Amino acid sequence: MSGDASGDVRSIGIIGAGTAGVAIARRALAAGHRVHIATSGPARRTGLVTRVLLTGAVPVNAEELPAVSDVIFVCVPLRHWRTLPTDGWQGRIVVDAMNYWPPVDGVLPEFEHADLSTSEVVRAGWPSSIRLVKTLNHIGYHDIEERARPAGAPDRIALGVAGDDRAAVATMAAIVDDLGFDPVDIGPLAVGAALEPARELFGALLGRDDFRAALQETPEQLAASRARRP
Ligand SMILES: NC(=O)c1ccc[n+]([C@@H]2O[C@H](COP(=O)([O-])OP(=O)(O)OC[C@H]3O[C@@H](n4cnc5c(N)ncnc54)[C@H](OP(=O)(O)O)[C@@H]3O)[C@@H](O)[C@H]2O)c1
Repeated sequence: MSGDASGDVRSIGIIGAGTAGVAIARRALAAGHRVHIATSGPARRTGLVTRVLLTGAVPVNAEELPAVSDVIFVCVPLRHWRTLPTDGWQGRIVVDAMNYWPPVDGVLPEFEHADLSTSEVVRAGWPSSIRLVKTLNHIGYHDIEERARPAGAPDRIALGVAGDDRAAVATMAAIVDDLGFDPVDIGPLAVGAALEPARELFGALLGRDDFRAALQETPEQLAASRARRP
């Protein structure tokens, strides 16, 4: 994988240093971006992760992320969404990489609305000025590292990017490209439901054209997807 595709070095903030957060951080570092990463604990505790797995990333306290980040990736289990320090995120591009996974999260009544994407629910509960984008939730952490490719590689796969703030989606599309994937702008957050667990695109490793085709789920496929919800 070559370096930064966009040429812009960005400051990437990540909250959550588990499997997803670490994989995204590693790709961002490989692309030449600056990475700050936080958990619910103090920075010194996250330092163990950065020393062992993320050479070059800087551990910080969660409250410090906005001051050092152009974009904040949220990579924590969804059940913690209300506990995050979102007051400091006002006006920021924030990436919702979370999924509603009842076997892990338990049943969360607010996400039991089949007609709303989980990102719409989260946006409604967070400060309204947050520029929320949904992406990277629908690819496994191992594929984030193993399937990243330089732009133009014949086996490069696509990732969907959804959001109501079109400029934020464009920024995130450039970062997805930097991370090693073909970004596909799929439209507003509501359409982001197509990237959620049990839907056709969740975990799908498809090139850009096949990804766009799979986005057009038939009513029968949609019903089957909903029947598969975890
Ligand atoms: N695993 C994947 O392949 C994958 C891929 C894409 C997206 N996702 C999504 O990404 C999210 C995280 O998944 P994961 O598998 O990476 O989980 P994980 O391995 O359990 O890691 C979760 C991380 O979040 C931190 N965390 C938990 N509560 C927090 C809080 N209140 N404030 C700050 N940090 C907190 C945890 O650290 P502390 O407990 O020390 O705070 C830990 O570093 C989920 O919503 C998942 O659906 C996962």
